[in-house]
Amino acid sequence: MVAPLKLGIAGLGTVGAAVVTMIEQRADVLSARCGRDIKVVAVTARSKTKRRDLGLDGVSWAKDALALANDPEIDCFVELMGGSDEPALSAISAALANGKSVVSANKALIAKHGLKLAALAEKHGGAFNFEAAVGAAIPVVKTLREGLTGTDIDRVYGILNGTCNYILTRMEQEGLSFEACLADAQRLGYAEADPSFDIDGHDTAQKLSILASLAFGIKVSQSAVSVEGITSISPADLRAAAELGFRVKLLGVAVRTKTGIEQRVHPTMVPKSSSIAQVMGVTNAVTIDGVGMPPITLVGPGAGGPATASAVVADIADVARGIRALPFGRPVAKLEATKKAPMEHHEGGYYIRLMARDLAGTAATIATRLAEQQISIESIVQRHPDGAFEADGQPRKSSPVPVILITYATSEDAVRRALQAVQRDKVISGKPQVIRIEKN
Ligand code: HSE
Repeated sequence: MVAPLKLGIAGLGTVGAAVVTMIEQRADVLSARCGRDIKVVAVTARSKTKRRDLGLDGVSWAKDALALANDPEIDCFVELMGGSDEPALSAISAALANGKSVVSANKALIAKHGLKLAALAEKHGGAFNFEAAVGAAIPVVKTLREGLTGTDIDRVYGILNGTCNYILTRMEQEGLSFEACLADAQRLGYAEADPSFDIDGHDTAQKLSILASLAFGIKVSQSAVSVEGITSISPADLRAAAELGFRVKLLGVAVRTKTGIEQRVHPTMVPKSSSIAQVMGVTNAVTIDGVGMPPITLVGPGAGGPATASAVVADIADVARGIRALPFGRPVAKLEATKKAPMEHHEGGYYIRLMARDLAGTAATIATRLAEQQISIESIVQRHPDGAFEADGQPRKSSPVPVILITYATSEDAVRRALQAVQRDKVISGKPQVIRIEKN
């Protein structure tokens, strides 16, 4: 009879509670699948007295995460506290240095300290598993690290933040305000404790940097990712996108270019007919372009207790089975250096929304400035906004008019130069809105 795998769980919030419940409810199945029992023997959390209804009778309570990581009774330390630094960092380091295995859902910490922790795991022989850190229930870490070991990958991209996709979906479909949608995402337990990590794109960047490391054999580095969030996206952009046959999604993209691996996070126009555009609400999706084969797309719930617990428990099951994959798919010493690709070299199509002065010659000036930069326009739409008309139905001269342009592929540098010139010409008011287009 093989001894049970004894777990210490740090963090009993939404995810921790769901993990404890799943291990209890699925005990027989897990035992059959792993060839041994899995038991929670010790826990710790911020509040010992909080009512939890988790059936933790007989489970010991450690005074803090570090004490739990050093507890000789546990084989595997499960870190579900979150936070990119302490106390999670010292606790995980101690567990790995003790030769224990570690399972973590903490993308912020892995994006920042993952290399150091992977090196500790390599040195001391424990596993360091973090499937739940990216895409919650979607097994994308395993897919890249194990399922596609032999495949040469050109690009990995996707919707990696449930909160942002939930907000954009509801703003588009129900015409709700950004603030109302964010409040709902918080209420439903999707958003980070500080939701600016979601809406400013940093959560997506952390997840993307982990995927890029696994896909391309590069060092995980959040600072190598160019990041823009969704706070500038207005209902007007979502309406214009819909009219032009697009949807706006916050995408994380890691792609092989002539100058290295480009990693970027930004709101993106995707054709309404594309598979990524069908991904709605809190759902995440990751597409992997492997050389010599059609793309692989994985779609599933990207946030929430049960979805995240599914991946955490699968990682624990691997530890129980004795599987020890290298955390980033190859020894840390063999991961290549990462550098930040300058976004001004990015090439692609662009959506541009300008508030133009409604005067003769404005459109011509804009077209001239774009032409000077060799930017070719695919479509141009001018709309009088509601309330911009006089009683006789004529447009009110003083009101600026939204002009929406879609360009063919060009460089970001060219777009920036053209728009600076248009601003100098004083034919527009306010700051131009620019959204990159990803066509396939
Ligand atoms: N705040 C994250 C999201 C949780 O909305 O996707 C899952 O990582």
